Amino acid sequence: MSRRIERSIARRELLRAEYGDSDDEDYEISETPNTIPSITKHSLPPRDILKLFYDSFHLLFDSPDLEKFIQSVKTELYNREYLAAFDNDDKRMAYCCRWSPSRALAYTSLFGSLIEVRELIQSQEANVLLIGGGAGAELAAVCSVLTKAIVDNDASEDLDFNIDLFDIADWSRITNKLSSEIRKTWFNNKYQDEIKINFKNHDILNHSTDFSTYNFISLLFTTNELFKEDKKKSLQFFQQLNQTCEPGTLLLITESAGSYSHIEIGTKKFPIQFLIDTILLGKHYQKNPDDGDWELVRQTDSCWYRVGNDPNEYSYPLKLENMRFFFRLYRKK
Ligand SMILES: C[S@@+](CC[C@H](N)C(=O)[O-])C[C@H]1O[C@@H](n2cnc3c(N)ncnc32)[C@H](O)[C@@H]1O
Repeated sequence: MSRRIERSIARRELLRAEYGDSDDEDYEISETPNTIPSITKHSLPPRDILKLFYDSFHLLFDSPDLEKFIQSVKTELYNREYLAAFDNDDKRMAYCCRWSPSRALAYTSLFGSLIEVRELIQSQEANVLLIGGGAGAELAAVCSVLTKAIVDNDASEDLDFNIDLFDIADWSRITNKLSSEIRKTWFNNKYQDEIKINFKNHDILNHSTDFSTYNFISLLFTTNELFKEDKKKSLQFFQQLNQTCEPGTLLLITESAGSYSHIEIGTKKFPIQFLIDTILLGKHYQKNPDDGDWELVRQTDSCWYRVGNDPNEYSYPLKLENMRFFFRLYRKK
């Protein structure tokens, strides 16, 4: 057997190990290692996730101004004017209607596909911190995996799940709306004491946070913004994660794949994930994997999430986007 074929089989086996069992009827196994499935069996189906966003904001879809605010957010994000893009409720609502549903589908697939993240959520006992998660996609994704675990296995006697969302922009109206819709339609108005969802309007770079209590921290499409705001404080923030996270804590980072996520340090530009790897895994991690404070559990420099084409699952009044991104999943040593 040629080495290329051997490598290809090994890659496919690795993929099966990472993304599940090919016998699953409702689980699409990608033939390329750089794709996550449009649906996994470990969450509520896409139609429930899209319905959550539609029902939460249905009044906005008829507003003649929605398209105007969508365009304004799009332009500001394109120009990397990140803080301006989310500086009022109209723009935040527009982002949430237009982009959060696709993101929520992709993150649901990602959380369902990454065994370590999935099992933590399915354990029904976790303390989760979603940094830059005010727009609700991560919240919907975590809750859709958690709800499925509760539906499939009944609520655990030890159900104790806390979700903190920290964001520099005030997404409180949006997260309140989504949370109450999730509580009503997914949790059937149960588990008020057992599942807590808290939004905090915090700038993570200027707020001292005790990371030691969290089992899972996510920074999804937020790291570029942190470095754009303040490189020095962003480095300090990552060092704080090194110093204060407890062993076993999972840290998931995603960002656009490719040159959009290149960062300039001095006169050089390089992919932001190289910088983060160096801070978290140590300067010499390639030669010496024991070097840093974290281990790299799973990673890819380019991964696709593609929205499926079953109209019963993927019907939504606005465009749903495919996503190409890199991810890194680290575990604290
Ligand atoms: C591009 S949006 C991504 C939103 C969401 N995570 C997603 O993937 O759809 C970046 C988010 O990070 C937040 N953010 C930017 N700088 C921040 C900071 N210093 N502290 C906390 N949140 C921040 C923004 O307000 C925004 O909600």
